Amino acid sequence: MQDHPTAPRDAAKKAETAAVAQPCAMVIFGAGGDLTKRLVVPALYNLVTAQRLPDGFRLIGVDRSLGTVEEWRDSLSSMMNEFVTKGGGEFEADHIDQTAWRWLTDRTTYVKGDLTDPQAYRQLKEHLARLDKTASNHLFYLAVPDRFFGTIVAALGEVDMVTEPDGQWRRVVIEKPFGHDLPSAKALNAEILKTLQEHQIYRMDHFLGKETVQNIMALRFANGLFEPLWNRQHIDHVQITVAETVGVERRGKFYEVTGALRDMVPNHLFQLLSLTAMEPPISFDAEAVRDKKAEAIQAIRPMTPRRAMKDAVRGQYDVGTVLGKQVQAYRHEPDVSPQSNTETYIAWKLQIDNWRWAGVPFYLRTGKYLKRRWTEIAIRFHQAPYTLFRGTHVERMNPNWMILRIQPDEGIALQFAAKRPGPTVTLDNVRMDFAYESYFAAAPNTGYETLLYDCMIGDATLFQRADNIEAGWRAVQPLLDLWVSSAPQHFPNYAAGSDGPAAADALLARDGRAWRPLE
Ligand code: BG6
Repeated sequence: MQDHPTAPRDAAKKAETAAVAQPCAMVIFGAGGDLTKRLVVPALYNLVTAQRLPDGFRLIGVDRSLGTVEEWRDSLSSMMNEFVTKGGGEFEADHIDQTAWRWLTDRTTYVKGDLTDPQAYRQLKEHLARLDKTASNHLFYLAVPDRFFGTIVAALGEVDMVTEPDGQWRRVVIEKPFGHDLPSAKALNAEILKTLQEHQIYRMDHFLGKETVQNIMALRFANGLFEPLWNRQHIDHVQITVAETVGVERRGKFYEVTGALRDMVPNHLFQLLSLTAMEPPISFDAEAVRDKKAEAIQAIRPMTPRRAMKDAVRGQYDVGTVLGKQVQAYRHEPDVSPQSNTETYIAWKLQIDNWRWAGVPFYLRTGKYLKRRWTEIAIRFHQAPYTLFRGTHVERMNPNWMILRIQPDEGIALQFAAKRPGPTVTLDNVRMDFAYESYFAAAPNTGYETLLYDCMIGDATLFQRADNIEAGWRAVQPLLDLWVSSAPQHFPNYAAGSDGPAAADALLARDGRAWRPLE
């Protein structure tokens, strides 16, 4: 086995301040799957180049689709090379550092087995026992369809692999979707908590791995400048947009029973919402942060069916042109019913009933095949109290906005009015703009690096606790119930490549407001 490879300059800089993770054996269930190849392994490679993984790190793949460790390593290598030569994945690099790659593959082994077969877990247990003693902590990563979550956790318990011996840890990472409604999320929590303790469970939401999402807390709580303005006295409303230019691609089967609401809102959009709306935690300790995030979601005003009818809009894409390419309607996608009523778009006006936000609407929207890929949190401040520019050309003053650009073009902008140079008083909108890339030489990042590293050092701040998950489902459940019982009337109702359905514009127009354009 080799010593640590030489890290690239940026990664080395980062490593100066970051400790190496604790030695551990990381077991990936679903080793042959897409998630492992596209995100988990590339993120591990980035952690190697950043010198964050200890010599005592071991990677064990479990799957039934591949025969041998060589086969697994080859499939991973060809995927990594494909990222470099063809691009198009979350992992971006102009070459693979072969020393770093070998460092990782030298530590890689494989157990062939069926996830529903108890024998596979006995084999895995023996395999881990044979590994060298330095990797005595175990991280189990469930990169598998959600129907296996309960089965795997129970099976690990059966063979006694998750009891924590003195001084050693056992942790389980569970991917999204965690349940498909409130009862199923509660049932899954109850099921896995029979085997695991809460501190061992790392429920993943990959949005929390995005640097800009983590930066929301830094912006709010590391700056005296903004916090005094962060409330109903100064904020008129908030718009949270997660616009995608992808359709459902080959995920028709999954998407038909999921839809945009389940797929994006109680998880990703609520992460953005809770970080924006939460009260300051007493520390950055995982429990303190998660307490405040849960409270923000619990404060969402419960929806009655009448309110849900009025305050939520669903959409489904029709044929159209996205980024210059002609695409088909959702109902013609593979594995999708030609009469499908599944929504590919949702817009929702919600209220957070607490002291800070009373009367401030939060407008959320997300959809597939929209005009532009764009994720932002836009905070609109109140107008100045009165227009003192009487007798000038200024009739109306434009509002101030703070825009947190989550992706792409990550950064933060402040929009305000300035006097246009010249003898008459004329105001123009101007922007102060902070772009990440002009300040920081960003290390290559898939968004999974921080999350994996945090599991290895035992920091659960960026993971969902049971109550956070259940609060999210509880808030959307009335909408799920309503939509299942009442069919949409005008599906499809937006052209692929547009801003979304007209009803979503009407939702804001009713309040005298408008969505920020997706230009
Ligand atoms: C996933 C959803 O969780 O998040 C996808 O299942 C969605 O439908 C994706 O496209 C968006 O994540 P990102 O990181 O590409 O913005």
